[in-house]
Amino acid sequence: MVLNKQKLEAVLSVEGKNTDLPFPLHIFESDASTNKTLWELLAQGPRSECVVIAAHQSAGRGQCGRQWLSSEGGLYLSFGFAPQLDINLGYQLTLATAWGIAEQLRKYGVDVEIKWPNDLVLDGRKLGGILTETKVCAGKITQAVIGVGVNWTNPVPPTGINLHSWNSQGNSVNIPCLEKLAARVLLGIHSGIQCLEGEGVNILLSRYTKLLSNMGDKVDVNDDFSGIVVGVTAKGNLHLHTSSGNNITSIPASIYLQPGTISLGYRKYKD
Ligand code: BTN
Repeated sequence: MVLNKQKLEAVLSVEGKNTDLPFPLHIFESDASTNKTLWELLAQGPRSECVVIAAHQSAGRGQCGRQWLSSEGGLYLSFGFAPQLDINLGYQLTLATAWGIAEQLRKYGVDVEIKWPNDLVLDGRKLGGILTETKVCAGKITQAVIGVGVNWTNPVPPTGINLHSWNSQGNSVNIPCLEKLAARVLLGIHSGIQCLEGEGVNILLSRYTKLLSNMGDKVDVNDDFSGIVVGVTAKGNLHLHTSSGNNITSIPASIYLQPGTISLGYRKYKD
């Protein structure tokens, strides 16, 4: 099921009229990884903005070096641009993307929430994920590739959900085709970046945490202590208030966990 480029461009020009989208769009039936291909395209010319979409991937890249299973029916999309962001603040691109896509899909009846740091969740299961890759020059992020996978009709693992099955459970999703899903994901990425660049990280974080499914959850940091999720910092760290039941007296009132150091699990799935 290859996406129809004309149809996607038509949706983008109607729904994204006040944006500078569409960038050049490259659509493939099969690709190893849309992130990888986008880097290769960027290496061929001076352009920094570009979009690559594939109907399926043979070597999709996930977070922490994992593989992203990418059979036909899912959306596999990468968005490249030049952010000029401080090297330490790269995680803000992922937070902005997660918020922008979640907010955009919510407008069309999909109750997406965010699971820290970069998962799109629906009904307590994983609907999609984000992998941001960056190139750094002189202390600045000069190029970013934001890769997004969203489950549409593709088979998913027990922790996952696709939009098609959620729709058939009686929910009314107003996203009738893959082209509309792709357009809305692209507009979501764009609006997240606009929010970050135009309104700043504090506004972005206040919006991100409103959609964060983990707010208020108790998190066991190790066998000895736990904390309650109270927010996310500008570097993407999870902010916990340590709870009074901890039996170690020397732990600080607040602790901060970096992305990748702890996995929060899915509400609807227990091992
Ligand atoms: C995650 O592990 O949650 C992030 C998954 C990101 C997958 C997308 S699919 C499109 C793009 N190309 C890739 O190889 N990975 C990202």
